[in-house]
Amino acid sequence: MANIIPKNLLEEIRARNDIADVVGGYLQLKHVGSALKALCPFHKEKTPSFHVNPQRQIFHCFGCGEGGDVFKFVMKYENVDFAAAARLLAERCGLRLEYAEGGERGDGTDKPRLYKLHEEVALLYHSFLTEGPQGAPARDYLAQRELDLETAREFLIGYAPERWDTLLLWAAKKKIAPQLLEAAGLVLKSDRAENRSPYYDRFRHRLMFAIRDELGRVVAFSGRVMGAAEQTAKYVNSPETALFRKGRVLYALDKARRSILDARVAILCEGQIDCIRCQRAGFSNVVASQGTALTEEHARLLRRYADSITLVLDADAAGEDAALRAAEVLQAEGLSIRIASLPPGHDPDSLIRQEGPAAFQRVLDQAQSALEFQIGVLRQRDDLASEAGLARATRAVLGTIARTPGAVQREQLLRRAAALLRISEQALRQDLVRQSRPPARAAPAATAPQPRHAVEEVALLEALVQHPELRDLIRQYLAPHHLSDPVCQTLLGLLLEPEAAPGALNVALHGASEECQRLAAQVQMAPQRLRDVEAPPLQAAQDLILVIRRKGLERRRVAAHQELERATGHLRERLRAECNQLTVDIKRLERKWDDDAKLILEL
Ligand code: CTP
Ligand code: MN
Repeated sequence: MANIIPKNLLEEIRARNDIADVVGGYLQLKHVGSALKALCPFHKEKTPSFHVNPQRQIFHCFGCGEGGDVFKFVMKYENVDFAAAARLLAERCGLRLEYAEGGERGDGTDKPRLYKLHEEVALLYHSFLTEGPQGAPARDYLAQRELDLETAREFLIGYAPERWDTLLLWAAKKKIAPQLLEAAGLVLKSDRAENRSPYYDRFRHRLMFAIRDELGRVVAFSGRVMGAAEQTAKYVNSPETALFRKGRVLYALDKARRSILDARVAILCEGQIDCIRCQRAGFSNVVASQGTALTEEHARLLRRYADSITLVLDADAAGEDAALRAAEVLQAEGLSIRIASLPPGHDPDSLIRQEGPAAFQRVLDQAQSALEFQIGVLRQRDDLASEAGLARATRAVLGTIARTPGAVQREQLLRRAAALLRISEQALRQDLVRQSRPPARAAPAATAPQPRHAVEEVALLEALVQHPELRDLIRQYLAPHHLSDPVCQTLLGLLLEPEAAPGALNVALHGASEECQRLAAQVQMAPQRLRDVEAPPLQAAQDLILVIRRKGLERRRVAAHQELERATGHLRERLRAECNQLTVDIKRLERKWDDDAKLILEL
């Protein structure tokens, strides 16, 4: 879509979104001298090296090398593509991003049209719920579920009337082709030839939940039967379409993501109504998986906003299994998990409705760690007093520990698991090593971790490759020994050779280490970062030289400090030895004195 947003509109969006304001909405920006700084959101750090430059309307982190304009920041921070970032920024300043018309290929891949259609249909269903006599049963059902009209408006709840052609008639009036409705999954094609129209509405006589993606665009629907589901499925959902993959969307994430970002915790429940009830009761960081098994993509989506997830699942065996599986998927993505168990027979909706938000809060407060929960479940289902039962439990628990990223975290879990299973830490540790040893065929060389190099040094090499005119400047202020990384040192040496012509590098690299060759390729393939940040390459190179030299000085300071420590230590050691020696000498002298005194007396 990037190329269908007109250029002047992009410039308008850029002009109306001051980078300092936008970044300031996400991070705590502080004025330090003339600079605007924050802790970098793209890498872990304790002192701010993330700079915003309002004059140049760019950001740059001197710690991790990230940088760019306001679009780039939103893309990185929200982890969205350019078009989505543009859309977010347009909304932020009250501009409407009209989708360019035309370009429909008729196969449903025309996403802008599908988005527009979903939005309009959601509003149409909503109007059927709020107005007119045919919506009366839906309004009754809504009231019976204790959801008010304000909630219906906020969550764009609607009603699909009891007809086969609601959307078809509406679309005909608006000159929307039924093929587009079909591509949106809103109508189905009938194979019975005698029908007047080959299409019919998918959603009929159902309470409709509009499902939005994390940017708030309607991408699908879920329709609930009104009343008990005896003859039909309780929920009918949109099929997978060009806009909707159910393994990728979490219900109400668009509403919850701000508070999830603030708290770094998301609460995950199963149903739309549960989620709505929670949000209305003030639990603003709740999203719902809509009854599907949690996928890796869900986990990645959550990972962008949260560090920790509280799973709220039913207290039955199916809920327990679902929780354990979900925990596994989420943990693999580096999220820490807590599992909250609802009282038997309740879901979040019924609990909050019958016993109030405080009761739900208690459930959250009593959430267990994934490990505790797992051991609890194992204890219920297996006899941990028996040798075989304990072996099974140990294996399962060790699987959880092995999957947990982070050595410190694994160590804590190990200790906790040993205590909970009442076995020795030592034994558990041995088993962990044995169990997590990869099978012989695993771990191909290609997945071997690549060594990390100092970002600023790599950035400098990239700059030098892309802007050979920087060579004189760099040669004047930087020698390879200023760099910390031996591989970067070698490469810088090669690139600064007077005769290093383009292409000569690869020749010069013959005989260099494998890592040196790999990094050289990486550097030569790197995108044009300097042009990206819209900073003149000269300026950027100067910054990099300063950072590298500053870090070099810092390393020397640390080294000197260590040397001083060592020297003081030596000195202290020597003085102590000399003191000891002196004490001994004095004793000896005193003894000798006594002897001499005796001698004098005898004389
Ligand atoms: N679900 C579904 N299809 C079904 C049943 C359930 O897609 N046939 C999804 C829905 O998103 C639903 C969620 O799974 O919200 C949880 O299902 P369930 O617990 O059965 O429903 P509730 O959300 O509790 O709905 P209600 O309170 O209306 O019964
Ligand atoms: Mn329910």
